[in-house]
Amino acid sequence: MNKSVVKITSGLRGQLEIPADKSISHRAVMFSSLAKGKSIIKNFSQGQDPLSSLKVFQAMGVDTRFIDNRTLEIVSSGELMPPAMTLNCGNSGTTMRLVSGILAGQNFNSVLIGDESLSKRPMKRIIEPLELMGAKIKAIDNHAPLSIFGTRLHGINYVSKLASAQVKSCILLAGLYAEGKTSVIEPYISRDHTERMLKYMGADIDVTGKTVTIRQSELKPQIIEICGDISSAAYFIAAALVVPKSKIILKNLGLNPTRTGIIDVVQSMGGNIKILAQRQVAGEEQGDIEVEYSELKGCNICGELIPRLIDELPVIAVLATQAEGDTIVKDAKDLRNKESDRISTIVNELKKIGADIEELEDGFVIHGKTKLTGGAEIETYHDHRLAMSMYVAGLVCEKQILIKDFDWVNISFPEFCKCFEKLIY
Ligand code: S3P
Repeated sequence: MNKSVVKITSGLRGQLEIPADKSISHRAVMFSSLAKGKSIIKNFSQGQDPLSSLKVFQAMGVDTRFIDNRTLEIVSSGELMPPAMTLNCGNSGTTMRLVSGILAGQNFNSVLIGDESLSKRPMKRIIEPLELMGAKIKAIDNHAPLSIFGTRLHGINYVSKLASAQVKSCILLAGLYAEGKTSVIEPYISRDHTERMLKYMGADIDVTGKTVTIRQSELKPQIIEICGDISSAAYFIAAALVVPKSKIILKNLGLNPTRTGIIDVVQSMGGNIKILAQRQVAGEEQGDIEVEYSELKGCNICGELIPRLIDELPVIAVLATQAEGDTIVKDAKDLRNKESDRISTIVNELKKIGADIEELEDGFVIHGKTKLTGGAEIETYHDHRLAMSMYVAGLVCEKQILIKDFDWVNISFPEFCKCFEKLIY
């Protein structure tokens, strides 16, 4: 599906409930499938990635049923069955990396496959620590397909070079089945949904600073209510900030501090963003925010802030084109290992529409404020976040842009266009 972007002149107005968090939806399916009994997941994401996780566990004998289009019931014996075929993770790195941790300690063999983009992404980061735990994995050149030969695992103390929630979660999930205790130490704290949900479901898990420790545990089924995805909200936050006369409220948004880097950045750019109400739901902070059109200034983004906004960097690049002065993003080399090489893809596509942006090895520099000319055909590179970021850029272009293969947005946010339509009056 090709999608041309309509230029909005009247601003974005009104209230919106952002659909469910993708990271939390994955974990809700996975951990409920490991818990003996009936779990209920309320507000489950409709994105293709969490559905890939769901299909993987269905293929291992877990009973799943949608009670309505957002409420999912999962009934599990607490034990997975050997899959009769390869397990297809689609485009989802979270599915492949977290499920590998679960499968390494089972008493059966399995093969994980992925689409073209996922098959190019690095898996050494999980194969290495899993092998240290005794896992047996075969993968040509450390890429999918991954053949996992289930075996007994033992705990390790792993000092990770990467601040990656996928790596951390993979090791912790293997630790659920390993003898002894398993610890992961990260350079900076990455999103902690795994730790929170495992605790909520009764696992023996502790967090001290940047160290997380887990021991063999049985999970208990739960009712899990999923909050709105702040990474999806980021496109609306950015759009409201750059389209004149905009003022919007986003409701029931996840505000876990390991994910709110975007709010900190917007505040440091002088953006008008307010948290209106905050509460705890299923072990996660959630709340409502208000965002208004603002005159922005550039800022520096690096270090421990990076894992707190890693998925928002492409749309932050768009935002920075509309901010006075320089915005410098550094320490984000792992952006090159996402669904696309997000450093080079965002730089290429923004240059096409007139942005003044320079590529760095571990980030980019944007000189603002620039008028975006538009009038170009934009590539999406199998990357949902690139497609949505460029849509936001299209809102402030002088001439319309055409985004090719826009249906990649279905990976995380199939409701994207409908949500935008609700805010345009
Ligand atoms: C995710 C973690 C992040 C993020 C990805 C989802 C997760 O990846 O980019 O979209 O659900 O754990 P890394 O942890 O590898 O940085």
